[in-house]
Amino acid sequence: MSEQFNLHVNGKPHQVQAEGSTPLLYILRNDLKLKGTRFGCGAGHCGACTVLIDNKAVQSCDTPLWSVVGHQVSTIESLGDAKAPGRLQKAFIEMQAAQCGYCINGIIMAAEALLRANPDPSDADIVAALERNLCRCGTHVRVLQAIQHAVRSTGAAQ
Ligand code: FES
Ligand code: FES
Repeated sequence: MSEQFNLHVNGKPHQVQAEGSTPLLYILRNDLKLKGTRFGCGAGHCGACTVLIDNKAVQSCDTPLWSVVGHQVSTIESLGDAKAPGRLQKAFIEMQAAQCGYCINGIIMAAEALLRANPDPSDADIVAALERNLCRCGTHVRVLQAIQHAVRSTGAAQ
């Protein structure tokens, strides 16, 4: 049954009307028009749909709407845009860390969660944080370099 839900997304309140079991990914893309969060597998296996919930990386295709009420949801749009990219977005551009690019928004959100919790991660920390994010193009080496570049460029500052 459709109900009204109050959400907090990218620092702003939103009201949506939907069934509580609706995946957060659908709400973000279809209701809030935040198209940066990608639909990949739709089954919790690829990480393309990764967003932050209270600073933790979560796969939004696997997250029911009801469960995010009272929590802070952040999407890739909250980090920056083409005119003013955030530290990770800038580093990925500078290191050209993408081929088709489909996986990259989810990877950046997983990396953002890591850097919020650990501003100076080791390579092993980065690899562990990205364990749930697949890249079919095999851009892994450049992804690692881009995250290291973001760490070196800005340290703990955002
Ligand atoms: S689309 Fe969510 S994990 Fe693949
Ligand atoms: S760059 Fe194509 S899937 Fe990762």
